Amino acid sequence: MNPDERLRSEFNKWAEQGRGEEMERHHRDITEKTIRRMELRPGERVLDLGCGAGWATRLLARLVGEGPEGHGQVVGIDISDEMIRRARAASRDFDNVMFAVGSADKIPWEENFFDKVLSVESFYYYPDQDRALHELFRVLAPRGRLFILINLYKDNPYSLRWVDSLEVPVQVRSKDEYVELLKAHAFEDVVAVQIPDDTPTPDEYSGKWFKNAQELREFKRIGALLLIATKPNFRSPAPGYQIY
Ligand SMILES: C[S@@+](CC[C@H](N)C(=O)[O-])C[C@H]1O[C@@H](n2cnc3c(N)ncnc32)[C@H](O)[C@@H]1O
Repeated sequence: MNPDERLRSEFNKWAEQGRGEEMERHHRDITEKTIRRMELRPGERVLDLGCGAGWATRLLARLVGEGPEGHGQVVGIDISDEMIRRARAASRDFDNVMFAVGSADKIPWEENFFDKVLSVESFYYYPDQDRALHELFRVLAPRGRLFILINLYKDNPYSLRWVDSLEVPVQVRSKDEYVELLKAHAFEDVVAVQIPDDTPTPDEYSGKWFKNAQELREFKRIGALLLIATKPNFRSPAPGYQIY
């Protein structure tokens, strides 16, 4: 299997086990905080890359729907066809949401299209993050903004416990390394912020990802990494030049 086939097979299993829907509970707090920073307006076109079962895609769709600036549209893309099947089934009431199966390596969309991109807990799975950023840059409109939210990164040591437990390889970088990576791809206004998860932690922890409840509490306190970046406006002339 090539890396994308491996990811599809693994996340199809997650989808069949109902983990696509379950992730809403774990990611909703940090995703809502991220969405607030996206400053979405009715009429905007948004991509949710690695959308899973599509719960965040639907949150976005409510914010960009009908409004004075037109009819906004949200596209959810995921490598897992089973996640996409479930996302579509749960989104039948939305007329401004569309889902497509596709890889971050080759985003199945036209260039300069999206005003904003959200990607929640997905970017560290991409086998070729350079290729994915190249694709994100391509599909974003000039002045379009990128919001990548990830829980697994070097500066949150508790997240590194997962690396050996996951069935697929992941990329592990630090906050500073991600900032450099985005700048190397010509993104502007690159910002990295940590987003704590403020949901209450039960006194007892019985899951497999942390040693105990105290560790989970620390993990949530350090928080997820949110990377924000802007595609430059190629239409604006260099100082002293005029576009005819
Ligand atoms: C941990 S889940 C998060 C899903 C969703 N964003 C959420 O928060 O509920 C990671 C998702 O990324 C998708 N994914 C992983 N690698 C991908 C790739 N190379 N291209 C597109 N999607 C990918 C998986 O299929 C999976 O649905």
